[in-house]
Amino acid sequence: MAGVSDVARAVNGRGELVLRRREGDGALELRVNGVFVMDDRETSSEALLASVALAAVLRPERVLVGGLGLGYTVRALLTDQRVGEVLVAEIEPELVQWMRDGVLPSVLDDQRVSVEVGDVRDVVAGQPAGSLDGILLDVDNGPDFLVYNENAVIYESSFLAVCKDRLRPGGVLTVWSSSSSEPLQAAVQQVFGHCEVQPVPVNLQGRDETYYVYQGNS
Ligand SMILES: C[S@@+](CC[C@H](N)C(=O)[O-])C[C@H]1O[C@@H](n2cnc3c(N)ncnc32)[C@H](O)[C@@H]1O
Repeated sequence: MAGVSDVARAVNGRGELVLRRREGDGALELRVNGVFVMDDRETSSEALLASVALAAVLRPERVLVGGLGLGYTVRALLTDQRVGEVLVAEIEPELVQWMRDGVLPSVLDDQRVSVEVGDVRDVVAGQPAGSLDGILLDVDNGPDFLVYNENAVIYESSFLAVCKDRLRPGGVLTVWSSSSSEPLQAAVQQVFGHCEVQPVPVNLQGRDETYYVYQGNS
């Protein structure tokens, strides 16, 4: 494709994962099966996902993040010295390897970070009840623009209830979405009894858009 150059590429059972450099603005971009996932130019909402969670928790000692992406949510968490452990669930092994190999700037060399390669549903389910201070979910473009159809359940009350069970009292769930979603808001409300919605204005390659963060406290 004109105007871009591949930095790394992998093909696995879920399809094609590509990390590429845009020639115009030099941005690093992640795509799955040709669909834009994110770039390293507009990362304010990924960081905000971390900051709203940190602001809502008194003692953010142990936090789970799904998924890794380019690492901006994890990086923002690590700036808070109260955070003792960040467990990252990432489904794409190649993305984790690229970060380990230095193909993209790493957040994995901080001793507080560990990664479990797998589906965030399994990683969350595998945690003991009441063992997490925060669960931050940014695994897809939100319930209305899925990259992986299997991720639809991540935004539904059945999985959000599993998340709530794994949170300590006072713990927080935050969910990123590229669009406003009433069903997601209703699901958080149903499970947590309330839902804070934070719109995040962003500029995507010259286009004004709004992303959203949904939050519930246990
Ligand atoms: C939008 S990116 C995350 C961006 C991240 N918040 C950041 O700051 O860079 C979504 C990530 O979730 C991963 N992913 C997608 N579905 C997943 C799942 N079911 N479980 C775990 N990771 C998943 C993708 O491979 C991708 O790395």
